[in-house]
Amino acid sequence: ESTEKPSQLKTRPQLQADVHRFSIQPLHRFKGPSASIKRPREVAHFSFDEDHKYVEDESGINYYVPPPMGVDLKEGFETFRHYEDKVDAHLDAMLKALVDKEKKSGKNSRVKADFVTWRGMMTKIMTTPFDNFAEFSMFATIHDGTIYIEEDFPSRAAERAAEASQPPPRHQHPDQQSREMMTYWGYKFETLALIPTPPSITPPAEIEQHQRSVVSNHAQHCSIVNTSFGPHSLILGGEVDGLLAPKSSDPDTPIQWAELKTAEELPPPARQQHRDILKFERKLLKFWAQSFLLGVPKIIVGFRSKAGILRALQTFNTHELPGMVRRGTGCWDGNVCINFATEFLGWLKEIVKEEGVWSIVLKKKSGVVEVRKIKEGTGDILSEDFLQWRMEAK
Ligand code: A3P
Ligand code: MG
Ligand code: MG
Repeated sequence: ESTEKPSQLKTRPQLQADVHRFSIQPLHRFKGPSASIKRPREVAHFSFDEDHKYVEDESGINYYVPPPMGVDLKEGFETFRHYEDKVDAHLDAMLKALVDKEKKSGKNSRVKADFVTWRGMMTKIMTTPFDNFAEFSMFATIHDGTIYIEEDFPSRAAERAAEASQPPPRHQHPDQQSREMMTYWGYKFETLALIPTPPSITPPAEIEQHQRSVVSNHAQHCSIVNTSFGPHSLILGGEVDGLLAPKSSDPDTPIQWAELKTAEELPPPARQQHRDILKFERKLLKFWAQSFLLGVPKIIVGFRSKAGILRALQTFNTHELPGMVRRGTGCWDGNVCINFATEFLGWLKEIVKEEGVWSIVLKKKSGVVEVRKIKEGTGDILSEDFLQWRMEAK
């Protein structure tokens, strides 16, 4: 038990780092037309191979092929090659891709921006206004005028471990699936819908062979884009699922990426209730934010039964989703998400001005993001290789 009086606590300097608070409510301050957004343009890319090793190329690119209906997405669960990050990957792969790119393109090719982060961090920030259970923990540092934001990996790993050690509920509905199974069928859907060569030049037997292959999430292709939210420029990296058409040689032509998602099928229109639509439209918020951030124009949803049978497909145009939801349940507003993120980034810029590692935390249900400096230096946010390259390139 502490014997210190509150007045004594106040004077302990190392614990008294300033805490900066950004309140999420009221949302009306973010209403109205959205801040101007620059269409994301790819500046670099990289892949992970079947061992989840970084490769500096397009080998991880896949092409969309319509998956067969009626397949049980639980098929092959026993042989799932599940990659789960056990070590903190920081921003390393993305920074490596930027360095590789700059080395190849020569001087003056430095990719500059106000912020560099994984797309996933921005998705969390953008969807915060309409997610009542939103929570996140990130670290940020500033280097040469750019703010780098990474996920607080140790916290997430601890959370995941705690979840995994929870016993399954005693009374389970027969259709209730384990967390691991629900993760599996998302990847199973991707395996059925993605092949490594354009379908037009792939023999049908080869397509089928790919669709039947062992499900693995080790290999990935990641796109790194340059975008902006109002006055703030960003470099975002994230996984892209597959192409609807081969990449054009013209860098100004939007890349025809498709994001693949699974969702539970809706009851037939006659039996649809408000809450069914609400559940689906809430899900669309994450689909939209995730795809919007990397400039992925299409989202292909595989609707499955409760038990995991693939029943139907629907393609959505990413840019049409906010309007669709506005005319529907109105459970989220894309402009508010964009304006919230723009304000938040501007606020961060005012705080993360001096060197050091800063924590950015939103605790569930707290309604406030708290930012505080936690240590000096750049932590492990920036890799040695990256720092060295930047020194050399100066
Ligand atoms: P679904 O999105 O169809 O559920 P992504 O959609 O981002 O390309 O991810 C592919 C699949 O990875 C997801 O398919 C899901 O199975 C799994 N996945 C992604 N994020 C996850 C998370 N936070 N928890 C559990 N599984 C996740
Ligand atoms: Mg993906
Ligand atoms: Mg996907």
